[in-house]
Amino acid sequence: MQTIVTAHYEEMSQLAADQVAAFLIKKTNAVLGLATGGTPLGMYDRLIQMYHQGKVDFSHVTTFNLDEYIGLSKDHPQSYAYYMWHHLFSHVNVHQENVHIPPGVFEKQEQVQRDYEQAIERAGGIDLQILGIGENGHIGFNEPGMDLEVATHVVPLTEKTIQANARFFTSIDEVPRRAVTLGMGKIMQAKHILLLASGKEKARAIAQTVNGHIDPRIPSSFLQLHPHVTMIIDKEAAQELQEVSSV
Ligand code: PGA
Repeated sequence: MQTIVTAHYEEMSQLAADQVAAFLIKKTNAVLGLATGGTPLGMYDRLIQMYHQGKVDFSHVTTFNLDEYIGLSKDHPQSYAYYMWHHLFSHVNVHQENVHIPPGVFEKQEQVQRDYEQAIERAGGIDLQILGIGENGHIGFNEPGMDLEVATHVVPLTEKTIQANARFFTSIDEVPRRAVTLGMGKIMQAKHILLLASGKEKARAIAQTVNGHIDPRIPSSFLQLHPHVTMIIDKEAAQELQEVSSV
C-alpha cells in the first residue's frame, strides 16, 4: 500500500484528480469504479475543470459505481445515480451507455446482482477503483461483520452509517436502511485502487486499514492483500498512522 499524506482536503482532491487523469491518458478506454459520498466531490470538481481545459477525456471511459440506496429511484436527489450525474457525468463527455450504477428500485434482487457483475466482466473488469472509507472501515457498503460477502449483494446499513449519511437528508428517518453494493470480491479484483480519506473522523479507520490485522470487522483492512493500492489522505485522516510519507 502506498500512502500519500496531503496538507488538506484540497490538496488530496487535486492529487487524486491528477492521478485519475494520468491513468486516463495512459488508458483512454479505462473502466473506472466510482464512489459517492462527501470525500470524492473535490476530485470530481477538479476532473471537470481538467476536462474543460482539454486535459482529460471521458469519451471512451466506462464507469461502474460501487453502490446505491435501495428504495431511491435514479432521479431522487439523494440517490447515488443523481449524485453522479449532478457532480460529474453531466459535466464531462462520458457516454450515457457507458455509465453503470446499481438500480435502487428493482423486482428481482438476484438478477440485479448477477447482471451488474456480468456487465463488469464484459467490460473487462475494473481498471481503477476509487474508494472512500466509512468511519467504521466500510468500503462501498460492505459493512463490518463476522464475515464479508464476495459478490454484489443487498446489505442492511449499520446505525453508524445511517447516522453518518443523515447529513445528506432532511431527517435521519429518511435515510434508506438498505443498499445494494459491489461485494469485496469485485472490489479486490480491480487492477488498481485509489482510496481517499479526509478528516480526523477517518483517522481510526485509516490506522486500522494500514496497521491493523486483516479483520472482517474492518472491511478496509482487506486492502492490505491488494497489490496496487494508493491511499491519498489528508493529515487529519493520517494522524493515527504509525508510519507515513508526505507530499
Ligand atoms: P464520505 O463517505 O466520503 O461521505 O465520508 C465515505 C463512505 O462512507 O464510504
